[in-house]
Amino acid sequence: EKGTYPHYMLKEIDEQPSVIRNIVSAYTNAAGELSIDEAIVNAFKEADRLYIIAAGTSLHAGLIGQQYMEKVAGIPTEVHISSEFGYNMPLLSKKPLFLFITQSGETADSRQVLVKIKALGYPTITMTNVPGSTLSREADHTLMLHAGPEIAVASTKAYTAQVAVLAITADVVAKAFGRSVAFDLKQELSIAANAIQTLVDSKEEMETIARDFLATSRNAFFIGRNMDYYVSLEGALKLKEISYIQAEGFAGGELKHGTIALIEEGTPVITLVTQKQVSLNIRGNVKEVVARGANPCILSMEGMEEEDDRFVLPKVHELLTPLVSVLPLQLISYYAALHRGCDVDKPRNLAKSVTVE
Ligand code: M6R
Repeated sequence: EKGTYPHYMLKEIDEQPSVIRNIVSAYTNAAGELSIDEAIVNAFKEADRLYIIAAGTSLHAGLIGQQYMEKVAGIPTEVHISSEFGYNMPLLSKKPLFLFITQSGETADSRQVLVKIKALGYPTITMTNVPGSTLSREADHTLMLHAGPEIAVASTKAYTAQVAVLAITADVVAKAFGRSVAFDLKQELSIAANAIQTLVDSKEEMETIARDFLATSRNAFFIGRNMDYYVSLEGALKLKEISYIQAEGFAGGELKHGTIALIEEGTPVITLVTQKQVSLNIRGNVKEVVARGANPCILSMEGMEEEDDRFVLPKVHELLTPLVSVLPLQLISYYAALHRGCDVDKPRNLAKSVTVE
């Protein structure tokens, strides 16, 4: 039920702080420590490489998950588009483990891969929001998202839930491998939940940004580096899907290899600056597009902000920035769609779960 909310999407955006808190409590054991099913930990122990298979927003969460698995848990990880993987399978490692990320658990493109992988006899995990869904039933193990039903076609809370559960999985597996994790993930997730709340409470600013940058534009670019690049892909997908504005997400450094030709007077370039290591580089990219007439909207993280930035995101751990940087992008897309009179919850040509290949 959407209650007093005008749209499910806005309700689901608002639910994100509590979703993160629910996830932390669902994955906390009696000793107060983060934990996941022992059988899943064992599956990781037996594997030499993780293959993440997903589509759309779940694919974008998978890209963040790859960073967690490699950087925190030290597990070589590949991320693949479900629809491509079936007929363009890479050479697999000796002991592959497959993780299917799917909010609905019903996506046909992902299921066709699961069927093939099972036939090959490899171990499988489904990360899903829907208990008893097809991919959950058919995989060896399930990691639940605990996000509550997601009704809007545009995925919001499932994405943040996927990122949080991926972080928890990497943290638990890292510890099971005897690796030291330099931060307290439970505490960092609680800081992130509070930060998300601050953003949820900044709707008016996001509505103004949508009005100022996207009211009449034909297209928009989202740029970032490192984690911000992956979130840019998600921001662009969200905007395309519900507002029908042609949008693309790019790695900041890649623009000059072609796309910069599209920048014209007033082209909106929504830029994320949350990754300290590359903050100067991404700011350099902003200068390049501004010199060609772009209208930059910089969303930076506290501690990295500069005078002309449009919005400053509350500070969270560097690995968890996707949980907060995606929020403004979700809200900006929502308001852009609303201002353009689009059907926010049921965009044209789309279904909540895509059950055809
Ligand atoms: O249910 P799934 O996570 O497998 O769905 C995958 C995509 O169809 C889905 O994320 C889609 O991209 C969303 N509508 C994006 O908001």
